[in-house]
Amino acid sequence: MVTVASSAALSCPEISLSNGFNIPILGLGTSHQGGYSHEAVVYALQQCGIRHIDTAKRYGCEEALGKAVVESGVPREQIWLTTKLWPADYGYQSAKQACRESCARLGVDYLDLYLMHWPDSMVSGRSNREVREETWRALEELYDEGLCRAIGVSNFLICHLNELKDVGGVVPHVNQVEFHPFQQPMKLVEYCRKEGIVFEGYCPLAKGQALTHPTILQLAQKYGRSASQICIRWSIQNGVVTIPKSTKPDRIHENCQVFGYNLDDSDMAAMRLLHDGRRVSWEPTHVE
Ligand SMILES: NC(=O)c1ccc[n+]([C@@H]2O[C@H](COP(=O)([O-])OP(=O)(O)OC[C@H]3O[C@@H](n4cnc5c(N)ncnc54)[C@H](OP(=O)(O)O)[C@@H]3O)[C@@H](O)[C@H]2O)c1
Repeated sequence: MVTVASSAALSCPEISLSNGFNIPILGLGTSHQGGYSHEAVVYALQQCGIRHIDTAKRYGCEEALGKAVVESGVPREQIWLTTKLWPADYGYQSAKQACRESCARLGVDYLDLYLMHWPDSMVSGRSNREVREETWRALEELYDEGLCRAIGVSNFLICHLNELKDVGGVVPHVNQVEFHPFQQPMKLVEYCRKEGIVFEGYCPLAKGQALTHPTILQLAQKYGRSASQICIRWSIQNGVVTIPKSTKPDRIHENCQVFGYNLDDSDMAAMRLLHDGRRVSWEPTHVE
């Protein structure tokens, strides 16, 4: 039984994808390694007004998440559901099958967004480029069939995106990449915007590392907000779709209180200076 005070419905801005669908700028992350709490997801949907959830086959919680959505009583069509295709399933037939299996586990008949999780294909004997292209063709067909309302990639760098561009076809609707005060890949952000690809940032708290940085603590004091809210607000104010993860209802509630105020330009600029190139998740730089 959750005892945290409920909040009014979340007034969350949305970002338009190139195909006209709108993704809520704030979502709830899930993950493996203790990153899923059933109670917390139900709470986020029922009490915080969260309408965007990010998951992946890799996280092993699709089935539980599907049940949480039903339990919340929030109609499916009001929720933006993203899941991801794991590289072991790359390839034309296997990608299609994996998508259908994800839908079945989630208990849904369509996904709002389906992402290729990682640029390395992990298929021996074939080039990454070849496997990525073939996999992308499968995603394009899933999109054409309406099983996925939008399709995209994750952890792709400019070189990987350029290759897909050479093939033609659907330009990824989204690229989901690590983005937080210590990791600000602004060239990639600019590239995505120029190409009509929505930039989505993961690990907005740098897995908690950003919450003790002196500059962020100073800003938290200045605005009367928590360090977590400063990081999430900063990410959103950069126009980045932002998906903090917490398994704790009170923290999810806190992480949603990021609208209706702005960080000053000078503070946005101060946070821009915190970039040190640190990654807290994947390192895609050397993936061919
Ligand atoms: N595409 C990809 O390859 C990829 C990679 C990594 C992550 N992601 C996505 O991005 C989401 C977020 O990433 P992440 O979970 O790695 O990192 P994160 O959101 O930056 O940080 C999560 C950590 O911060 C803690 N936390 C959350 N809110 C807090 C608060 N208000 N105060 C103090 N601590 C707080 C959480 O602990 P508690 O849970 O204990 O609250 C957890 O340890 C994931 O869930 C996943 O959906 C995608």
